[in-house]
Amino acid sequence: MELRVENGRIVYPFSVGFNSANGELDDFDTHIERYLSKLINVFADADAAWQYLRDNGDKLIYEVYEKNIPEVDGEIRFCSSITYPGKIGDEYFMTKGHFHSRPDTAELYYCIRGKGCMLMEKKDGRYVLEQMYPGRAVYVPGHYAHRSINIGDEPLISLPVYPGNAGHDYGTIEDSGFKHLVVDRNGKPTVIENPEYGRM
Ligand code: PA5
Ligand code: NI
Repeated sequence: MELRVENGRIVYPFSVGFNSANGELDDFDTHIERYLSKLINVFADADAAWQYLRDNGDKLIYEVYEKNIPEVDGEIRFCSSITYPGKIGDEYFMTKGHFHSRPDTAELYYCIRGKGCMLMEKKDGRYVLEQMYPGRAVYVPGHYAHRSINIGDEPLISLPVYPGNAGHDYGTIEDSGFKHLVVDRNGKPTVIENPEYGRM
């Protein structure tokens, strides 16, 4: 269904189908695909990322389907976020992660499929890790950078919902990374300090 927007606001109710098997949103307006070749520096072990590319070719790490809800105060934006299973070295596939451009805005992720965790980290390095699995919602308060991480063996599908005016600040994480990583240690997801923190 077409969104009815007047003067930059949604003016007519709508509903949308959400495919819980593959995460596709019906009638999406935007589809973002993030491939490993563009995410080399997102992973702490860049050498392992290059090796993965040499061995397997390029790989879709995650994708997002969105409706073009106006990015203004009062609207609510939502999307479908799908992160595929896999690892670069011992680090699980994950999203780039970001702060919100309006840092005090919060977000709610409702998990539909898969097994994962949400790493939430403040600028001072304090972090919280919450589990993501079907039927569980994670509340990300303002001022926390957030990244979803697939620790399972099927797609991790969630529905993030956030204020229209939140915006995405990717630059801070691109510059210094997260202070913490979630890696596989003997088959168990484990939080470690990022040896590359501040040197991304
Ligand atoms: O707004 C959000 O937090 C999500 O919709 C994310 O944008 C989505 O999960 C993709 O992650 P990222 O924006 O970090 O690439
Ligand atoms: Ni967000």
